Amino acid sequence: MNFTEIERLEDNFQLTTYKKMGIAIERGSGSWVWTSDGEKYLDLYGGHAVCATGHSHPYVVKAIQEQAEKILFYSNLVYSELRGRTAEKLVEVAPPTLTKAFFCNSGTEANENAMRAARLATGREKVISFSGGFHGRTADSISATFLGKYRDIGKPNVPFHIEATFGDIESVRAVADDQTAAIIIEPIQSMAGVREATPEFFKQLRELCDAKGIVLIFDEVQTGIGRIGRWFFAGSTFAGGIEPDIITLAKSLGSGVPVGACLLNDEVSSKIKENDLGTTFGGGMIAMAAVLATLEAIDTEGMIENAQAVELQLREQLATVRGVVAVHGKGCLIGIEFDGPCSPVHSRLLDRKIITGTSSDPNVLRLLPPIVTTTEQIDMLVDCLRETAAGAVS
Ligand SMILES: Cc1ncc(COP(=O)(O)O)c(C=O)c1O
Repeated sequence: MNFTEIERLEDNFQLTTYKKMGIAIERGSGSWVWTSDGEKYLDLYGGHAVCATGHSHPYVVKAIQEQAEKILFYSNLVYSELRGRTAEKLVEVAPPTLTKAFFCNSGTEANENAMRAARLATGREKVISFSGGFHGRTADSISATFLGKYRDIGKPNVPFHIEATFGDIESVRAVADDQTAAIIIEPIQSMAGVREATPEFFKQLRELCDAKGIVLIFDEVQTGIGRIGRWFFAGSTFAGGIEPDIITLAKSLGSGVPVGACLLNDEVSSKIKENDLGTTFGGGMIAMAAVLATLEAIDTEGMIENAQAVELQLREQLATVRGVVAVHGKGCLIGIEFDGPCSPVHSRLLDRKIITGTSSDPNVLRLLPPIVTTTEQIDMLVDCLRETAAGAVS
């Protein structure tokens, strides 16, 4: 089928919920994707922040294929060596205090379960989250999302969700009390325009949570699993070295196979009993094969170091591109702030066969490339930005 036929087919039968780019993707490899018309695009949006190991990484594909030959699925009602080894590997790469994994299917589900675990562990109901944070589209997660248009579509919102100001500890102190179960934070606010807070702020959050018995949750759905040039934001220098009580994960965890997870510390997990949390598909064999292979590939192929190199190159080269006023973020979660709206830049890059993303900040173009993206591929982006109007040669 050509593009027009595919567009008509999908629009006729799939409920329209996203504003789509005018391309149909058929296959991918590394940071490249190919369209139905055989055109090759550079994907610096990583399949929506999902394909960190690159599209269809051969090691991950092989693991999924081999597992599919054995058994596609059995639930948590039975034991599985693969599930055990996957949880072990995830805990091994996580900060030391995060000792147990709970598997589910998506980012929003991971956050719902994290907030439930916090409520069960504390016997309290209130959850504090931050203006600009995005946590998903199901009831509790969207109620924790204080990013205007998203929270509103979730109305009526779940009660006991309180807003604080990102990066401002006084605003948190003003609402945190002995009824607060959890503070959930997206440590780099991606959708809001790749906004960052200081390590000091995270240290103060940890102190506040310790003092008041509040469960601290890092939503690392985007920042986790190597994307920011560290395995996790938690425990890194960006977080002032502190570790939360729960980390939530999804997006790149399965290299494209839908899977989410919560990582919990001993204190919280010791209070979770049988039947408190659950989901049919969580921990299924295909997802586990994908997660284990993803973690192994990131570990053995130097991808985390590559994510750091991508950031360095971008910061150095974008400093000389006219129209760019700031570069935000870490590793392969980067926001390029322009001196005006970035949507024309986004469109021009797409015309030049480079896929990037926008954000809730009209001036911030988002890059969420595979963490295997090469120096030459970043050069292509920068050359293209220099040549387009907003980034005319300086
Ligand atoms: C930080 C963050 N948390 C949660 C979610 C929700 O994840 P999912 O779409 O898998 O439910 C997203 C999705 O964009 C996200 O970026």
